[in-house]
Amino acid sequence: MKVCVFGASGYLGASVYRLLKETPDTDVAGTCLEERAVFDDLYKLDVNDPESFSEFFKATQPDVVVWSVMSGPDEDELIQEGLRHLITHMTPDTKLIYVSSDFVFADGYGPYNEDDTMSKLPDEHVLSTYANAKVKAENFITQDLKNYVILRAGPIYGENQIGKRDERTDQLVSQLRLGKTAAFRDDLIRTFVHVEDLASVIIEFGQNDVTGIYHAGPLRSNSFYDFMQQTAEQNGFNRCHVEKAAEAEEVDKEVPKNTVLNTEKISQVVKQTFR
Ligand SMILES: NC(=O)c1ccc[n+]([C@@H]2O[C@H](COP(=O)([O-])OP(=O)(O)OC[C@H]3O[C@@H](n4cnc5c(N)ncnc54)[C@H](OP(=O)(O)O)[C@@H]3O)[C@@H](O)[C@H]2O)c1
Repeated sequence: MKVCVFGASGYLGASVYRLLKETPDTDVAGTCLEERAVFDDLYKLDVNDPESFSEFFKATQPDVVVWSVMSGPDEDELIQEGLRHLITHMTPDTKLIYVSSDFVFADGYGPYNEDDTMSKLPDEHVLSTYANAKVKAENFITQDLKNYVILRAGPIYGENQIGKRDERTDQLVSQLRLGKTAAFRDDLIRTFVHVEDLASVIIEFGQNDVTGIYHAGPLRSNSFYDFMQQTAEQNGFNRCHVEKAAEAEEVDKEVPKNTVLNTEKISQVVKQTFR
Protein backbone atom coordinates (compact mmCIF):
# COMPACT_ATOMS: atom_id res chain seq x y z
CA MET A 1 0.00 0.00 0.00
CA LYS A 2 1.26 3.48 -0.83
CA VAL A 3 0.38 6.32 1.55
CA CYS A 4 1.01 10.02 1.05
CA VAL A 5 1.09 12.32 4.08
CA PHE A 6 0.59 15.99 3.24
CA GLY A 7 2.00 18.01 6.16
CA ALA A 8 4.51 15.33 7.27
CA SER A 9 6.75 17.95 8.92
CA GLY A 10 3.95 19.16 11.19
CA TYR A 11 3.14 18.21 14.77
CA LEU A 12 0.59 15.51 13.92
CA GLY A 13 1.86 14.68 10.41
CA ALA A 14 5.36 13.83 11.69
CA SER A 15 3.91 11.15 13.97
CA VAL A 16 1.79 9.71 11.17
CA TYR A 17 4.78 9.71 8.82
CA ARG A 18 7.15 8.07 11.32
CA LEU A 19 4.62 5.37 12.27
CA LEU A 20 3.91 4.61 8.60
CA LYS A 21 7.62 4.21 7.89
CA GLU A 22 7.64 1.44 10.48
CA THR A 23 4.48 -0.21 9.14
CA PRO A 24 5.11 -3.40 7.13
CA ASP A 25 4.07 -3.54 3.45
CA THR A 26 3.67 0.23 3.34
CA ASP A 27 5.41 2.77 1.10
CA VAL A 28 5.16 6.28 2.43
CA ALA A 29 5.76 9.65 0.82
CA GLY A 30 5.57 12.82 2.90
CA THR A 31 5.47 16.51 2.04
CA CYS A 32 6.40 19.75 3.77
CA LEU A 33 6.34 23.39 2.78
CA GLU A 34 9.63 24.52 4.38
CA GLU A 35 10.60 22.24 7.29
CA ARG A 36 12.44 19.46 5.48
CA ALA A 37 14.84 19.18 8.44
CA VAL A 38 12.26 17.16 10.42
CA PHE A 39 12.88 14.18 8.10
CA ASP A 40 15.48 14.33 5.34
CA ASP A 41 13.35 12.52 2.75
CA LEU A 42 10.29 14.78 2.57
CA TYR A 43 9.16 16.36 -0.72
CA LYS A 44 9.09 20.13 -0.58
CA LEU A 45 5.74 21.08 -2.06
CA ASP A 46 3.33 23.97 -1.89
CA VAL A 47 -0.04 22.24 -2.23
CA ASN A 48 -1.49 25.50 -3.52
CA ASP A 49 0.71 25.35 -6.61
CA PRO A 50 -1.28 23.41 -9.22
CA GLU A 51 1.62 22.33 -11.44
CA SER A 52 3.96 21.02 -8.76
CA PHE A 53 1.01 19.40 -6.99
CA SER A 54 -0.05 17.58 -10.12
CA GLU A 55 3.49 16.47 -10.93
CA PHE A 56 4.01 15.12 -7.40
CA PHE A 57 0.65 13.37 -7.22
CA LYS A 58 0.97 11.66 -10.60
CA ALA A 59 4.47 10.44 -9.72
CA THR A 60 3.37 9.17 -6.30
CA GLN A 61 -0.03 7.58 -7.13
CA PRO A 62 -1.02 6.87 -3.52
CA ASP A 63 -3.73 4.45 -2.37
CA VAL A 64 -4.29 6.52 0.76
CA VAL A 65 -3.82 10.26 1.26
CA VAL A 66 -3.56 11.83 4.72
CA TRP A 67 -4.28 15.58 4.85
CA SER A 68 -2.52 16.97 7.93
CA VAL A 69 -1.84 20.43 6.53
CA MET A 70 -2.62 23.63 8.39
CA SER A 71 -1.86 27.24 7.64
CA GLY A 72 -3.77 29.43 10.17
CA PRO A 73 -4.43 32.75 8.42
CA ASP A 74 -3.99 31.18 4.94
CA GLU A 75 -6.27 28.24 5.68
CA ASP A 76 -8.90 29.38 3.20
CA GLU A 77 -6.39 29.39 0.33
CA LEU A 78 -5.18 25.99 1.44
CA ILE A 79 -8.68 24.58 1.07
CA GLN A 80 -9.78 26.59 -1.95
CA GLU A 81 -6.56 25.78 -3.85
CA GLY A 82 -4.65 22.86 -2.27
CA LEU A 83 -7.54 20.66 -1.20
CA ARG A 84 -9.37 21.32 -4.49
CA HIS A 85 -6.28 20.21 -6.44
CA LEU A 86 -6.18 17.08 -4.36
CA ILE A 87 -9.88 16.32 -4.89
CA THR A 88 -9.51 16.63 -8.67
CA HIS A 89 -6.66 14.11 -8.60
CA MET A 90 -8.41 11.51 -6.44
CA THR A 91 -9.71 8.31 -8.07
CA PRO A 92 -12.55 6.24 -6.55
CA ASP A 93 -9.90 3.82 -5.23
CA THR A 94 -7.87 6.49 -3.43
CA LYS A 95 -8.91 6.98 0.17
CA LEU A 96 -8.64 10.45 1.73
CA ILE A 97 -8.17 10.85 5.47
CA TYR A 98 -8.80 14.51 6.24
CA VAL A 99 -8.01 15.90 9.69
CA SER A 100 -10.71 18.41 10.62
CA SER A 101 -11.49 20.31 13.77
CA ASP A 102 -14.08 20.73 16.53
CA PHE A 103 -14.22 24.35 15.33
CA VAL A 104 -16.73 23.33 12.64
CA PHE A 105 -19.18 23.73 15.53
CA ALA A 106 -19.06 27.45 16.26
CA ASP A 107 -22.65 27.77 17.42
CA GLY A 108 -24.31 26.35 20.51
CA TYR A 109 -22.89 23.81 22.93
CA GLY A 110 -21.45 20.33 22.75
CA PRO A 111 -21.36 17.42 23.01
CA TYR A 112 -21.79 17.33 19.23
CA ASN A 113 -22.57 14.23 17.19
CA GLU A 114 -21.11 13.59 13.75
CA ASP A 115 -24.39 14.42 11.99
CA ASP A 116 -25.00 17.70 13.82
CA THR A 117 -25.11 20.74 11.54
CA MET A 118 -21.83 22.62 11.16
CA SER A 119 -21.80 26.38 11.70
CA LYS A 120 -19.49 29.24 10.76
CA LEU A 121 -17.94 32.02 12.81
CA PRO A 122 -18.78 35.61 11.79
CA ASP A 123 -16.28 36.86 9.16
CA GLU A 124 -14.89 39.52 11.49
CA HIS A 125 -13.97 36.95 14.17
CA VAL A 126 -10.21 36.43 14.61
CA LEU A 127 -10.55 32.67 14.16
CA SER A 128 -13.03 32.74 11.28
CA THR A 129 -10.53 32.06 8.48
CA TYR A 130 -9.38 28.78 10.00
CA ALA A 131 -12.73 27.62 11.39
CA ASN A 132 -14.76 28.49 8.30
CA ALA A 133 -12.19 26.96 5.95
CA LYS A 134 -12.59 23.67 7.84
CA VAL A 135 -16.37 23.82 7.23
CA LYS A 136 -15.71 24.55 3.55
CA ALA A 137 -13.24 21.65 3.31
CA GLU A 138 -15.72 19.19 4.79
CA ASN A 139 -18.39 20.36 2.34
CA PHE A 140 -16.03 19.93 -0.65
CA ILE A 141 -15.08 16.44 0.48
CA THR A 142 -18.57 15.16 1.23
CA GLN A 143 -19.94 16.60 -2.04
CA ASP A 144 -17.18 15.35 -4.34
CA LEU A 145 -15.80 12.13 -2.82
CA LYS A 146 -17.11 8.84 -1.48
CA ASN A 147 -13.92 7.17 -0.29
CA TYR A 148 -13.02 9.44 2.61
CA VAL A 149 -12.70 9.65 6.36
CA ILE A 150 -13.10 13.04 8.02
CA LEU A 151 -11.62 12.95 11.50
CA ARG A 152 -12.68 15.84 13.70
CA ALA A 153 -10.34 16.58 16.58
CA GLY A 154 -10.31 18.99 19.51
CA PRO A 155 -7.01 20.34 20.85
CA ILE A 156 -4.18 17.87 20.15
CA TYR A 157 -1.65 17.42 22.94
CA GLY A 158 1.32 15.34 24.07
CA GLU A 159 4.74 14.35 22.78
CA ASN A 160 4.79 13.17 19.17
CA GLN A 161 7.00 10.52 17.55
CA ILE A 162 9.90 12.95 17.11
CA GLY A 163 9.79 14.30 20.67
CA LYS A 164 7.89 17.50 19.90
CA ARG A 165 5.16 18.63 22.30
CA ASP A 166 2.14 20.82 21.59
CA GLU A 167 2.87 24.54 21.87
CA ARG A 168 0.45 25.01 24.78
CA THR A 169 2.34 22.53 26.96
CA ASP A 170 5.72 23.94 25.89
CA GLN A 171 4.66 27.45 26.88
CA LEU A 172 3.21 26.23 30.18
CA VAL A 173 6.39 24.38 31.12
CA SER A 174 8.66 27.34 30.23
CA GLN A 175 6.49 29.67 32.28
CA LEU A 176 6.37 27.38 35.32
CA ARG A 177 10.14 26.80 35.11
CA LEU A 178 10.61 30.56 35.46
CA GLY A 179 8.58 30.41 38.67
CA LYS A 180 5.62 32.19 37.05
CA THR A 181 1.99 31.09 37.15
CA ALA A 182 -0.17 30.41 34.10
CA ALA A 183 -3.89 31.03 33.66
CA PHE A 184 -6.46 29.06 31.64
CA ARG A 185 -10.21 29.40 31.38
CA ASP A 186 -12.60 26.96 33.02
CA ASP A 187 -15.55 27.90 30.80
CA LEU A 188 -13.96 26.57 27.60
CA ILE A 189 -14.68 22.85 27.41
CA ARG A 190 -13.02 20.56 24.88
CA THR A 191 -12.30 16.95 23.94
CA PHE A 192 -8.49 16.84 24.14
CA VAL A 193 -6.85 14.12 22.06
CA HIS A 194 -3.32 12.73 22.40
CA VAL A 195 -1.22 13.15 19.25
CA GLU A 196 -0.07 9.52 19.28
CA ASP A 197 -3.62 8.14 19.58
CA LEU A 198 -4.76 10.33 16.71
CA ALA A 199 -1.79 9.33 14.55
CA SER A 200 -2.44 5.64 15.24
CA VAL A 201 -6.12 5.86 14.40
CA ILE A 202 -5.26 7.61 11.12
CA ILE A 203 -3.07 4.65 10.23
CA GLU A 204 -5.84 2.22 11.18
CA PHE A 205 -8.30 4.06 8.91
CA GLY A 206 -5.73 3.83 6.12
CA GLN A 207 -5.77 0.05 6.49
CA ASN A 208 -9.49 -0.61 6.90
CA ASP A 209 -12.48 -0.06 4.61
CA VAL A 210 -14.36 2.24 6.94
CA THR A 211 -15.44 5.63 5.53
CA GLY A 212 -17.42 8.60 6.86
CA ILE A 213 -17.14 11.32 9.49
CA TYR A 214 -15.79 10.45 12.95
CA HIS A 215 -15.04 12.37 16.11
CA ALA A 216 -11.63 11.33 17.46
CA GLY A 217 -10.74 11.33 21.13
CA PRO A 218 -11.72 9.94 24.51
CA LEU A 219 -15.26 9.99 25.90
CA ARG A 220 -14.01 12.38 28.61
CA SER A 221 -13.95 16.17 28.20
CA ASN A 222 -12.16 18.87 30.22
CA SER A 223 -11.96 22.61 30.61
CA PHE A 224 -8.64 24.16 29.61
CA TYR A 225 -8.14 25.03 33.27
CA ASP A 226 -8.58 21.40 34.46
CA PHE A 227 -6.58 19.99 31.61
CA MET A 228 -3.63 22.33 32.06
CA GLN A 229 -3.59 21.72 35.83
CA GLN A 230 -3.20 18.01 35.04
CA THR A 231 -0.52 18.81 32.44
CA ALA A 232 1.42 20.86 35.00
CA GLU A 233 1.32 17.96 37.45
CA GLN A 234 2.40 15.44 34.80
CA ASN A 235 5.41 17.66 34.11
CA GLY A 236 6.47 17.75 37.76
CA PHE A 237 4.89 21.05 38.85
CA ASN A 238 2.30 21.76 41.49
CA ARG A 239 -1.14 22.15 39.88
CA CYS A 240 -1.87 25.24 41.98
CA HIS A 241 0.51 27.21 39.72
CA VAL A 242 -2.19 27.00 37.06
CA GLU A 243 -4.88 29.57 37.83
CA LYS A 244 -8.32 30.36 36.43
CA ALA A 245 -8.23 32.98 33.69
CA ALA A 246 -10.78 35.76 33.47
CA GLU A 247 -13.73 34.95 31.27
CA ALA A 248 -14.39 38.42 29.86
CA GLU A 249 -14.02 38.70 26.08
CA GLU A 250 -14.79 41.16 23.35
CA VAL A 251 -17.66 39.91 21.20
CA ASP A 252 -15.58 39.55 18.01
CA LYS A 253 -13.06 37.40 19.88
CA GLU A 254 -15.56 35.20 21.70
CA VAL A 255 -14.34 31.65 21.38
CA PRO A 256 -16.91 28.82 21.15
CA LYS A 257 -17.44 27.76 24.76
CA ASN A 258 -18.13 24.07 24.51
CA THR A 259 -17.06 22.17 21.40
CA VAL A 260 -17.02 18.77 23.08
CA LEU A 261 -17.23 15.92 20.57
CA ASN A 262 -19.29 12.83 21.22
CA THR A 263 -16.77 10.07 20.39
CA GLU A 264 -19.03 7.01 20.75
CA LYS A 265 -19.18 6.35 17.00
CA ILE A 266 -15.44 5.97 16.42
CA SER A 267 -15.13 3.57 19.36
CA GLN A 268 -17.46 1.19 17.51
CA VAL A 269 -15.41 1.01 14.28
CA VAL A 270 -11.72 1.05 15.32
CA LYS A 271 -9.50 -0.95 17.65
CA GLN A 272 -7.57 2.16 18.72
CA THR A 273 -8.45 3.47 22.17
CA PHE A 274 -7.95 7.06 23.34
CA ARG A 275 -6.19 7.77 26.63
N1 LIG B 1 -2.94 21.17 16.55
C1 LIG B 1 -4.19 21.04 16.98
O1 LIG B 1 -4.48 21.22 18.17
C2 LIG B 1 -5.29 20.67 16.00
C3 LIG B 1 -6.59 20.52 16.49
C4 LIG B 1 -7.60 20.08 15.61
C5 LIG B 1 -7.30 19.81 14.29
N2 LIG B 1 -6.02 20.00 13.84
C6 LIG B 1 -5.74 19.66 12.43
O2 LIG B 1 -4.71 18.71 12.41
C7 LIG B 1 -3.92 18.86 11.22
C8 LIG B 1 -2.47 18.95 11.60
O3 LIG B 1 -2.27 20.05 12.48
P1 LIG B 1 -0.82 20.32 13.14
O4 LIG B 1 -1.05 20.93 14.47
O5 LIG B 1 0.03 19.10 13.01
O6 LIG B 1 -0.26 21.47 12.15
P2 LIG B 1 1.23 22.02 12.01
O7 LIG B 1 2.15 21.48 13.04
O8 LIG B 1 1.12 23.53 11.90
O9 LIG B 1 1.71 21.44 10.59
C9 LIG B 1 1.18 21.98 9.42
C10 LIG B 1 1.79 21.26 8.23
O10 LIG B 1 1.27 21.85 7.04
C11 LIG B 1 2.36 22.16 6.15
N3 LIG B 1 1.94 23.26 5.27
C12 LIG B 1 1.45 24.46 5.60
N4 LIG B 1 1.14 25.16 4.47
C13 LIG B 1 1.42 24.36 3.42
C14 LIG B 1 1.32 24.49 2.00
N5 LIG B 1 0.86 25.61 1.42
N6 LIG B 1 1.69 23.44 1.23
C15 LIG B 1 2.17 22.31 1.79
N7 LIG B 1 2.29 22.11 3.11
C16 LIG B 1 1.91 23.13 3.92
C17 LIG B 1 3.49 22.52 7.09
O11 LIG B 1 4.75 22.45 6.41
P3 LIG B 1 6.07 23.18 7.06
O12 LIG B 1 6.33 22.46 8.38
O13 LIG B 1 7.14 22.92 6.08
O14 LIG B 1 5.70 24.61 7.24
C18 LIG B 1 3.32 21.40 8.13
O15 LIG B 1 3.84 20.19 7.63
C19 LIG B 1 -4.47 20.10 10.51
O16 LIG B 1 -5.35 19.69 9.50
C20 LIG B 1 -5.22 20.83 11.60
O17 LIG B 1 -6.27 21.61 11.09
C21 LIG B 1 -5.01 20.40 14.67
